[in-house]
Amino acid sequence: MTTIKVALLGFGTVGSSVYQILQSQQSKFERLIGRKVEIVGVLIQDETKQRDIADGILVTSSFEELINVSDIDVIIEAINGIEPGAGYLHKALEKGVHVVTANKELLAHEGKSLRETADTGNAQLKYEAAVAGGVPIIGTLQQLLQVNYISNVEAILNGTSNYILTEIAENKVSFQEALLTAQKLGYAEADPGNDVDGWDAFYKLMILSDLLLGDQPDWTQVTRRGIRGITLADIQAVETAGWRIKHIASLQFNKGKAQLRVEPRAVPQGHSLYEVAGVDNAVAIEGDLAGNLKLQGPGAGALPTASAILEDFVQLYKKSDNRKPVIDTTFSAEDSNRLQDWL
Ligand code: NDP
Ligand code: HSE
Repeated sequence: MTTIKVALLGFGTVGSSVYQILQSQQSKFERLIGRKVEIVGVLIQDETKQRDIADGILVTSSFEELINVSDIDVIIEAINGIEPGAGYLHKALEKGVHVVTANKELLAHEGKSLRETADTGNAQLKYEAAVAGGVPIIGTLQQLLQVNYISNVEAILNGTSNYILTEIAENKVSFQEALLTAQKLGYAEADPGNDVDGWDAFYKLMILSDLLLGDQPDWTQVTRRGIRGITLADIQAVETAGWRIKHIASLQFNKGKAQLRVEPRAVPQGHSLYEVAGVDNAVAIEGDLAGNLKLQGPGAGALPTASAILEDFVQLYKKSDNRKPVIDTTFSAEDSNRLQDWL
């Protein structure tokens, strides 16, 4: 039986969790894939840190050393920021190495060119973990898009922000205290400004835009506001009216034009995102055939993110699903209107 050789880029909250699961559940993955799975190397930044990594696995801060060590089949990437990760992923995909990534900042900036490199190298690029943590939103949208025209997406895409807003409202803790706990729980970005200033949700919305529209809008035309500065008094003022403040990323069509926004908004009871609490993310989708759907679940943290990564990993090798999804981007609002008229 041949072995699938895996390299991990990053051994922080996400990378170490993927490692633990792959190492401790080897028989499950062998059963699912029909081949043995072996972690052959781990890329990190600081070689002096103590890590619980088995003997025989290369631990290095040199990507060149890692990529040349043996014939790697799959890279699982969970490091921070755009570079050096983007350069590494291009090199891997060029060589025909499949990539599974959780890195939304990198994907929002480089997704298009990485997909092109993947095509050139005849490799696959998968990224379920990059949007909404453990919530399988990428796979669901790919499925829906095959036959639906999707006109609206409203979502909570940053677990840290939702956690902070919930903690302030329910437990009256300060913004800083709530953020500190989110960091301790492994929810926040290495630079938590990315969470509380709306960048993280913005990057995720750009990834959804690539998927839904086949492109991204001019970033300077997209409203991006975070939750920094929202106080208990703000939250209580809204709550006395029976509303809640939620940090919402939306993609909506207005007169045939897509409008994308990331901002805190007050939503009334009964709104699809009103009840979403703690680290949960939720995505409400309006499809012309499927109707209104909502997916909800943990949007950050070690295990949910590792789950999404490993779902992608298994999909790479499941024989029946080993195809790129076919998305008909020519299916438009007009097609949908024609169908509505016919109905
Ligand atoms: P951490 O900060 O916990 O871990 C980052 C890891 O990347 C560390 O092992 C670090 O090395 C390594 N690293 C950073 N820079 C480099 C570099 N230049 N070269 C080599 N290794 C590097 O981050 P997380 O695990 O929380 O997140 C990782 C990625 O996953 C990020 O892109 C994040 O946005 C994304 N993500 C995170 C989620 C979460 O809930 N935490 C959820 C979904 C996605 P060292 O250990 O030596 O410091
Ligand atoms: N920092 C991110 C969040 C991690 O809080 O949602 C998951 O992408």
